[in-house]
Amino acid sequence: MRRTLIAANWKMNGLRDDAIALAAAVAGHAGGAAAPDCDIVVCPPAPLLVPVGEALGAGPVALGGQDCHAEASGAFTGDTAAPLLADLGCRFVIVGHSERRQGHGESDATVRAKAQAAQAAGLTPIVCLGETEAERAAGEALAVIERQVAGSVPERGDALVLAYEPVWAIGTGKVATPEDVAEAHGHIRARLGVLFGPEAAARIRLLYGGSVKPDNAAGLLALADVDGALVGGASLKAEEFRAICRASP
Ligand code: 13P
Repeated sequence: MRRTLIAANWKMNGLRDDAIALAAAVAGHAGGAAAPDCDIVVCPPAPLLVPVGEALGAGPVALGGQDCHAEASGAFTGDTAAPLLADLGCRFVIVGHSERRQGHGESDATVRAKAQAAQAAGLTPIVCLGETEAERAAGEALAVIERQVAGSVPERGDALVLAYEPVWAIGTGKVATPEDVAEAHGHIRARLGVLFGPEAAARIRLLYGGSVKPDNAAGLLALADVDGALVGGASLKAEEFRAICRASP
């Protein structure tokens, strides 16, 4: 009932020509004979949204932003408004990525405000959360996840995706064990059930992120309560990203 969602987070990578070529390769695959039976979204750097959107064309691959501001407009130099993302053709926006929480001091309250701004603009926020290595070592992983769900999830549970990305698994090649992922996702689902009720919680897609590669994607995507992946490094190579999409159960 929850359709798999594979999201590409290109982060701060690529120039215009690379981005257009990569988007075209991903879109070509999605529309081809061996098209995977899943939803796909590509999130390029903000200045590349327009050319990447054009390269994706009217096909099934959706466009997404990597961040948005909590306000719809105003004097916020360098930020991107959610209504602008929607106007440029985005359907999704990542909010609360650990690289924004850590590198830009974003609190749970900030992340929630951004997620709500995204929903108000008609976008589906992909709200990221996950513990650091020190927090996991201290046995606090589930408590951190619980706090982040309570603090950063928007009030509306419709048009919502969550991504569990343990910080220590991002860009490191270290993947959380299936047991850890299953435990974290089960816990997130249970907390969402408390917030929105079990039926609404059962409709929310939970993505796993952190060193997802073609060789581990099938195992991760087969886990209960894992409804897709948020892919960083491997999304920059069309062949690898295609293979991850094909691993969709
Ligand atoms: P990697 O896939 O490079 O580990 O990045 C994960 C991530 O941060 C996606 O948002």
